[in-house]
Amino acid sequence: MTASLATKYLGLDLKNPLVASASPLNANLDHLRRLEDAGAAAVVLPSLFQEQIEAEADHHQGLMAASCNISAEAADYFPALVSGPYGLGPDHYLDLIRRTTDALTIPVIASLNGASRADWIDYAKLIETAGASAIELNMYHIPTDLSVSGSAVEAQYLDIVGAVANSVGLPISVKLTPYLSAIGHFATTLEASGVSGLVLFNRLMEPDIDLRRMKLTDTPELSTQAELRLPLLWTAILAGRMRRASLAVSSGVANSDDVVKCLLAGADVVMTTSAILHSGVGEMTKLVGGLMSWMRARDFAEVSQMRGIMSWERASDKSVYTRANYIRILYNYADVH
Ligand SMILES: Cc1cc2nc3c(=O)[nH]c(=O)nc-3n(C[C@H](O)[C@H](O)[C@H](O)COP(=O)(O)O)c2cc1C
Repeated sequence: MTASLATKYLGLDLKNPLVASASPLNANLDHLRRLEDAGAAAVVLPSLFQEQIEAEADHHQGLMAASCNISAEAADYFPALVSGPYGLGPDHYLDLIRRTTDALTIPVIASLNGASRADWIDYAKLIETAGASAIELNMYHIPTDLSVSGSAVEAQYLDIVGAVANSVGLPISVKLTPYLSAIGHFATTLEASGVSGLVLFNRLMEPDIDLRRMKLTDTPELSTQAELRLPLLWTAILAGRMRRASLAVSSGVANSDDVVKCLLAGADVVMTTSAILHSGVGEMTKLVGGLMSWMRARDFAEVSQMRGIMSWERASDKSVYTRANYIRILYNYADVH
């Protein structure tokens, strides 16, 4: 029996639920082609950062020194920002979208990364014109100001989302931080403000401390498989309870069993970056093939038949997702050790 892996994500028709999430390699056309050939159903381009767009705008106006849009720290990095961490300035980013959408048959999702609302949001329109199928918004913000409340942080996120949603007709997804006190409530609020999908979750890439140099480190770490538990939990809790927003898992997807778990929890799509960076594009083929084999072995003809069957909503004992399970886990550890 051949199983159909066809999936919808953000209203887009995908051939399967595997998406290559944002990574530096996704700025390379040859890599993207190989991802498509390996079975990726969609790709997310690396993020373009608010600071890059603002830095370039300031550069054009010759106002760099007097800039009030850009932090002093960001200004120090100005040359790097205009060329971008992946060698892409805003104009090159649009060019990448055009070249990628021309070269690939699968949907190309652009990624914007910002923390506050400003003129940079107009850039979303240019992304739409360049031909992206959707925009993923990554709002990386660490609220170091102790006087700022959780609701103020959420309001700031909503402000950005609303501004982008109002400026384009493209579907918008939000790559959420897991560090919110009420993820479910915020998810429904985002959906009400026009968001078509949620990516669970963004990784913070916290700095470590280099004791020899007495400096903070900025070396990117690939994820570990243990990181899947948190997005799996929240996918299971949200699945079947959003009105129309799609759910994507991102973080810790290392093999095809992980893909199966995400779908059983209720994900519409499953994203991966670290597995590809670590083991190469061939991992994508293994993820798709492994999912297909698992479905065949269990007689699932379509992904929709398995999606969400292990979700919170469909669990007969909902306590497995909450405190009771937590207490059981702690007791089991004490029993075993
Ligand atoms: C080196 C590296 C670069 C990344 N760049 C971006 C980025 O530009 N934008 C973004 O939203 N996420 C970025 N991510 C996060 C990934 O898209 C992904 O969400 C995260 O790594 C968790 O998924 P994984 O466990 O499959 O790696 C990056 C991750 C890594 C490791």
